[in-house]
Amino acid sequence: MRGCKDQWRCAVFSFSKKDQATGEVTERQLDDANIPAHVAIIMDGNGRWAQQRHLPRIAGHKQGMNTVKTVAKAASHLGVKVLTLYAFSTENWKRPTAEVNYLMKLPVDFFGTFVPDLIKNNIRVKVMGYTDQLPVATQKAVKDAIADTAECTGMVLNFALNYGGRAEIVTAVQTLAQQVQAGTLDPAAIDDAAIDDQLMTSDLGDLRDPDLLIRTSGEERLSNFMLWQVAYSEFVFTQQHWPDFDQTALEEAIYEYQQRHRRYGGLASEPEKK
Ligand code: FPP
Repeated sequence: MRGCKDQWRCAVFSFSKKDQATGEVTERQLDDANIPAHVAIIMDGNGRWAQQRHLPRIAGHKQGMNTVKTVAKAASHLGVKVLTLYAFSTENWKRPTAEVNYLMKLPVDFFGTFVPDLIKNNIRVKVMGYTDQLPVATQKAVKDAIADTAECTGMVLNFALNYGGRAEIVTAVQTLAQQVQAGTLDPAAIDDAAIDDQLMTSDLGDLRDPDLLIRTSGEERLSNFMLWQVAYSEFVFTQQHWPDFDQTALEEAIYEYQQRHRRYGGLASEPEKK
C-alpha cells in the first residue's frame, strides 16, 4: 500500500464502488499516472432529479450547481488539468422563460459564493460560448470570476455557456473564409491546426481536446457539445442524474477510462513481427 498523508491524494489511489443492487463493495485503484488531462461533462438530469422529488425543475438546477462545486474540487485534487462543463447550450433558450432566467442567474450565485474556494484550490475560471448574448449581470459575474482567478495556475474550470458545437465551427469557418477573401490565407493551408486555432478551446493549447467525456442521466448523445474536439475522446455514460454525481462517480468514470485502449485510428501495440 502506498503511503499517503493527504486525504485528497489518497482518493487518487483507491476508492470504493458499491453495487446498488447487491450492496457489494469493491475496492478500486486509480492509476495516478493516467488521469485524463481534460475531462468534459454533459451535466444532464437536473429536471428529472427534481421531478422524482416532486420539486420544481429549478430545484434540480440549484442542486446541480452544488454538484459543480463538489466535482470541480474533486477533479482538481485528482490531477485533472481542464474540466469543461456544459452549463447552457445555444439551444437551451427554447426552455420556458422562468427556467432560462434561473439558469442565467446561476453563474451569478455560483461565482458570488465560490470564487474564494476556487482561488484556495488554485482553480482558474474560463468560459467558452457566445457570452455577449448573456444578460449583463451574468456577463459581469463571468468576467469578474475570470479576472479574480486569473493568477491561479492549477486546473482550468471551463464553463460552456451559451455554447454550441455547430455554431462554434460555423464561426471558425467564417473567420477562415474572411482571411482567404482578404488574401491573408491560402485555402491549401487550412488544416486541422488552422481550425483548432479558431475554436473556443484554442487558448487551452495541447489540452484543448477532452480525453474523457462524461454524460450523466442515462442519455447517450452529444447534444451539440464540442463536436470537433471530441473526435478521439473516450465516452462514459452514467445513470446518475447530475445532482447525484459526486467524487466517487467521477473516480468511477476515470477508472472506466483507464480500462480503455486509445488507438487514435492506429492499432493496439503488439509485439514486433520478425
Ligand atoms: C440539463 O439537465 C442541465 C442543464 C441544461 C443546466 C445545467 C446547469 C447546471 C448543472 C448548473 C450550472 C451551474 C453553473 C455554475 C453555471 P436538464 O434540465 O435537461 O434535465 P432533464 O433532462 O432531466 O430535464
